[in-house]
This record gives sequence, structure tokens and C-alpha cells, in this order.
Amino acid sequence: MKKLLEIKKVSAKEKYDSMASSYDNVPDNYMEQWEDETIFDDVKGKRILDIGCGTGRLLAKLKSYGADTLGIDISSKMVQETKNKSLNAIVNNVLYYQTKKKFDIITSILAFNYIKEKKKAFSKIAALLKEKGIFILSECCHKKDVIVPIDGTGIYADYYPLSKKGYCKYLKAEGFKIKVIKDLYYKKEYRQTKEDEKSIGFLIKAINSGKRN
Ligand SMILES: C[S@@+](CC[C@H](N)C(=O)[O-])C[C@H]1O[C@@H](n2cnc3c(N)ncnc32)[C@H](O)[C@@H]1O
Repeated sequence: MKKLLEIKKVSAKEKYDSMASSYDNVPDNYMEQWEDETIFDDVKGKRILDIGCGTGRLLAKLKSYGADTLGIDISSKMVQETKNKSLNAIVNNVLYYQTKKKFDIITSILAFNYIKEKKKAFSKIAALLKEKGIFILSECCHKKDVIVPIDGTGIYADYYPLSKKGYCKYLKAEGFKIKVIKDLYYKKEYRQTKEDEKSIGFLIKAINSGKRN
């Protein structure tokens, strides 16, 4: 890798706007490590919202399984990449997104650690989901945002990670019942050292009870 001239903090929107055209260079196989068959259970005909949809990686798969999909993302450039794949997506921040038609399933992969207002975000998700609707959250275990080289500058964004326990606490407070908590691990081809055998993240599947605690 070329030597970075400076390291700069930017907003999450700026970071992903800068990465949008190269984001899909990361192999699908690598990104799939934050997925799990749980996400694709019985999605046919279901109305699904993917929060922080990025370039539409997950939306494309969900659509191929017969789901009616919509992505939202704060980065207009990421949303444009998604639209270029003929997938429905809009520029919006989950904290402010509103719609009259509720969703059967909401997914979010590797986006929540960028959101500071967790309570507000989970309350919004509960409001957007039908009663008994499913929320699937997948996150990584990084303590800090990954620095990405863009034109010689290393950029990173504010990052607000929680443990799986921390996320479950917020979800329960908004009336979600936790159904699955799964630790995620690198696939064999991405393991080089003993360190790489440790968990790289977690996936939580929760049901919206419609009743806040
Ligand atoms: C690491 S990328 C993950 C993209 C995609 N989910 C994937 O797995 O390939 C994180 C995405 O979350 C988006 N994001 C961050 N905060 C957001 C927010 N408050 N509302 C909507 N999207 C957000 C970013 O713009 C970025 O596209």
C-alpha cells in the first residue's frame, strides 16, 4: 500500500461517498461473512427494508429470493450504485425516515456502529416494522472505524460500536424479543493467524413485539 499523506476524520456520509465507486471491489465472498442463512429465511413476497444498504449487495440477493426490497443510505453515491443495479433505494438517514407502509423485515449490515443515537434508531425501526416483524442486525467487533485510503489520505468516520449484549439491551428496551444471537467468524480462506480465529462480529435476529418496555 502507498504511504498515506494524512489521516483525516470525515462524516460517515463523506466516507461512503468517497468509497462508493470502489466499494464493490471488495469480494462478495468477503462481505458475506457478516451474513447468515437466517437473513434469507422465508423472504419471498416480503416487504424488506435494508438500512445502510451501501451498493445494494444484500438487496440484490433478497430480491433474487423474491422479496420486495427497498434500501436507504445516507450516502447519495452509494445509493446511486444501488440504483445502477436496478434496485430500489433512497437517500435517507434511518433516524428521520418515514413511510406509511410498514415492513415485514428490516435488515442492517455493518451500518449501526456509525449511528450514535441508538435508542432513537431502534425506536424508529420498531415503528417501521409490522407487529411480529423481524429485524436482523449484523455488526463487526471493531472498536474503531477502519481507515480507508482515498487518493493518498486515510479516512475514517466517527464510530459508536456496542457489544452484542449492548445492542440486545437497546433492542429489548424498544420491545424486541431476541430470537437468535450468533457469533460470526472468518471463512477459512481469510484466516492467516491465530488471531483470525476469533469472532469478527455477530448477528442478532429480533422480533418486534409492538410493546415497549
Ligand atoms: C460498511 S457500509 C455497509 C454497506 C452494506 N450494508 C454492506 O453490507 O455492504 C455502511 C453503510 O451504512 C451507511 N450509513 C451509516 N449511517 C447511516 C444512517 N444513519 N442511515 C442510513 N445509512 C447509514 C453508510 O453510508 C454506508 O453505506
